[in-house]
Amino acid sequence: SSPLPPASALLHWYDRHRRALPWREAVRDPYRIWLSEVMLQQTTVAAVTPRWRRFLIRFPSIAALAAAPWEDVAAEWAGLGYYARARNLHACAQAVAARNGFPDTVEELRALPGIGAYTAAAVAAIAFGRPVVPVDGNVERVTARLHAVEEELPGARPRLSGLASRWMEQDAARERPSDFVQALFDLGATICTPRNPACALCPWQAECEGRRQGIAPSLPRKAPK
Ligand code: ADE
Repeated sequence: SSPLPPASALLHWYDRHRRALPWREAVRDPYRIWLSEVMLQQTTVAAVTPRWRRFLIRFPSIAALAAAPWEDVAAEWAGLGYYARARNLHACAQAVAARNGFPDTVEELRALPGIGAYTAAAVAAIAFGRPVVPVDGNVERVTARLHAVEEELPGARPRLSGLASRWMEQDAARERPSDFVQALFDLGATICTPRNPACALCPWQAECEGRRQGIAPSLPRKAPK
């Protein structure tokens, strides 16, 4: 199996270049982290930022959100798309309030309404410091390039998530799981971009097999629709 890209180099880069995003000031509040992750699944960081702040003024706690009438939640969600997501958000808040707070393991988080593998791993790592890697489109792209995975999406998904999970086996990552996964998001958003990746600035350039083979910008490959 291929060597691990050094977590220490990524974290060092993150310490110098991290984006100042509002939910990063809320590090250990699972409600704020969960809300940001649900919003970010369908909307850009720039669009989410003001809406995340406003939502938290309207519903300052999971208990406040759980107790609110559905119409109020739907009104606050307007323009963020997919009402099913707002329905799940409300149902999840009620389930969490009923059990007196968010659970702190991936398995229990996954059992909540509307929380899938990605959101469970993101909340577990960012809010609770669990050593797991949430795999979204950004992390898939970084992984495919780093390990030169030429298999097409969506079939390659299990393989990519298995490879990304192994990065967390390093001590440097396990000491800072929250920063490590957010560093991956930033790497995918600012350096390892879909087009014209800035490989010369990448903290993992020396370890990137896709770059070595000259195929990084063409990865991940996607099956024709
Ligand atoms: N995309 C998904 N989750 C994110 C986060 N926590 N920070 C930045 N971008 C993200």
